Amino acid sequence: MIVLATAEGARLARRLADVLDAELAPIEEDRFPDGEQIVRVPPELDGTVIVVHSMVPPQDENFLKCLIALDAARENGADRVIAVVPYVAYSRQDKRFEPGEPVSFRAVARAISANADAFVTVDLHEPSTLEFFDVPAENATAAEEIGKYLRERFDGEELAVIAPDEGARELAERTASVCDAEHDHLEKERISGEEVRIYPKELDVEGKTVVIVDDMIDTGGTMIEAAKALKEQGAEELYAACTHALLTRNAASRLLAAGFKDIIATDTVPTPYERVSVAEPVSEAIDRLPE
Ligand code: R5P
Repeated sequence: MIVLATAEGARLARRLADVLDAELAPIEEDRFPDGEQIVRVPPELDGTVIVVHSMVPPQDENFLKCLIALDAARENGADRVIAVVPYVAYSRQDKRFEPGEPVSFRAVARAISANADAFVTVDLHEPSTLEFFDVPAENATAAEEIGKYLRERFDGEELAVIAPDEGARELAERTASVCDAEHDHLEKERISGEEVRIYPKELDVEGKTVVIVDDMIDTGGTMIEAAKALKEQGAEELYAACTHALLTRNAASRLLAAGFKDIIATDTVPTPYERVSVAEPVSEAIDRLPE
């Protein structure tokens, strides 16, 4: 078994190769004069090849890089190619919200399925959309790893883990069960790509350290609105935790300016806020795949 890594998947790939006790090799990347991408993998592959690549912004470029890296693995001898895409783009366009729109994530899933024998991701925005894949597909979760991190960091403190919306409720619940904290969720309405409304709700957070947990932080709008609601109810200290820290539009600075003490993220997206690795849950997801 060999683990191949693009630049966007490099740190997770190194940890995953350690956990799997597998060989690790980088995928070389280059450009043609017109800007088109080219990748190069070791030319004499065999057996199972795991390609680790995260579809971070610029998503379209990284989507294409994913497809050609998978193709290169197959073309150069792999018997079985597993695509490990810890953050997979377009997962939020998982249905036709308005007439005339696509189900973008289904198109992404079909393209990956055409180029890989199996797929593994982490905290997929809507887990039921794994059914869009035509190959075996698994969704790992960072909940336990985030929970363990919180348990160590906030040992002895009164801790509450809050989901900013119904969609993140399960992630918050699983995280809280590991760090032995209270958990609850807020109600959110999305008004536009950047604007959300959080509805008032009574929560038991007075004087507590509160960690808001979501699958992803994109612009930070959700976290900032959730923080306002929690501060009004007396939350003492606020932390923003997520699996995928996209942090677009200066989100990190805006979160810290809004009063968050820290951002706690995983290595599904390379950022300075990686506090937790998903290598263990990803390796377990790989083990669950049919041979
Ligand atoms: C959406 O429901 C997701 O779970 C996140 O809450 C959302 O994508 C975060 O985006 P933003 O940081 O831009 O509010």
